[in-house]
Amino acid sequence: MDLRLDGKSVLVTAASKGLGRATALEYAREGAKVTIASRSAEHLDEAVAEIREATGQYVHPVTLDVASPELIEAAVQSAVDAHGGLDVLVTNAGGPPGGSFEQFDDNVWQSAFDNNLMSVIRLIRASLPHMRAAGEGRIVNLSSISIKQPIQDLMLSNVFRAGVYALTKSLATELAKDQILVNTVAPGRILTDRIRQLDARVAQLKQLSPEEVEAAFLTQIPVGRYGTPEEFARYAVFLGSFANTYVTGQALLVDGGMVKSL
Ligand SMILES: NC(=O)c1ccc[n+]([C@@H]2O[C@H](COP(=O)([O-])OP(=O)(O)OC[C@H]3O[C@@H](n4cnc5c(N)ncnc54)[C@H](OP(=O)(O)O)[C@@H]3O)[C@@H](O)[C@H]2O)c1
Repeated sequence: MDLRLDGKSVLVTAASKGLGRATALEYAREGAKVTIASRSAEHLDEAVAEIREATGQYVHPVTLDVASPELIEAAVQSAVDAHGGLDVLVTNAGGPPGGSFEQFDDNVWQSAFDNNLMSVIRLIRASLPHMRAAGEGRIVNLSSISIKQPIQDLMLSNVFRAGVYALTKSLATELAKDQILVNTVAPGRILTDRIRQLDARVAQLKQLSPEEVEAAFLTQIPVGRYGTPEEFARYAVFLGSFANTYVTGQALLVDGGMVKSL
């Protein structure tokens, strides 16, 4: 299938590692002109080198903390300047800390709000003029299966990802007239540093080994394994491609069947 991404300008945030990096790599493989953003210049350089080696494509790196409104404007402009416009935006951020309600004060709540919901709002707001100028656009918001089924010990994710899903659905209605389609892709357990850290935390809390924690999760995943970043990326890239012409406002769970609700 031709994803109609050849030469399209794509910005992926929080893309120096994990799901963001795998998604950026898949876009580069499809011939898109990709910008990746994250906080660490060192991590970005490693990702640029890795994507170049895998695809032969130059990827434009931008240093960005997604919690910073000023840096968001500048990062979007940098992608536009580097690649002559912006056709696709993939919003992603680092995951919030684990913990339950009474462990978090206002500062922690505010930080998760800025990182995991306001960043999505600000990135989309900064990107829309460029998509409108292009006459079409695609937005993919990375979220979590917590949009369908709250996850124990991930209170902050549960609350703000639901906001991302509501934003996705609301924007789909507002932006369809501009040929801009908006979707969210919700990972279950895709093996990245984040999942390794979360498993280590559960292991410590429950006094289990990381292997025992993984084995317990696998009993909940019908496909019988954690996903890989590469397979997650394929779904994100299809929804955020111009081969996707009629799906908007949807949440695609990439979870090996983990969530059981309809
Ligand atoms: N993996 C899963 O199965 C899974 C499941 C549910 C939800 N999620 C969510 O999906 C997102 C990505 O997860 P992942 O597994 O890919 O995590 P990861 O492997 O830990 O990668 C996180 C990426 O985010 C970047 N980052 C962190 N804070 C940032 C910030 N403030 N501004 C810009 N970039 C930032 C990091 O780069 P720098 O250090 O260079 O900034 C890194 O590139 C997270 O929000 C996570 O909670 C993941």
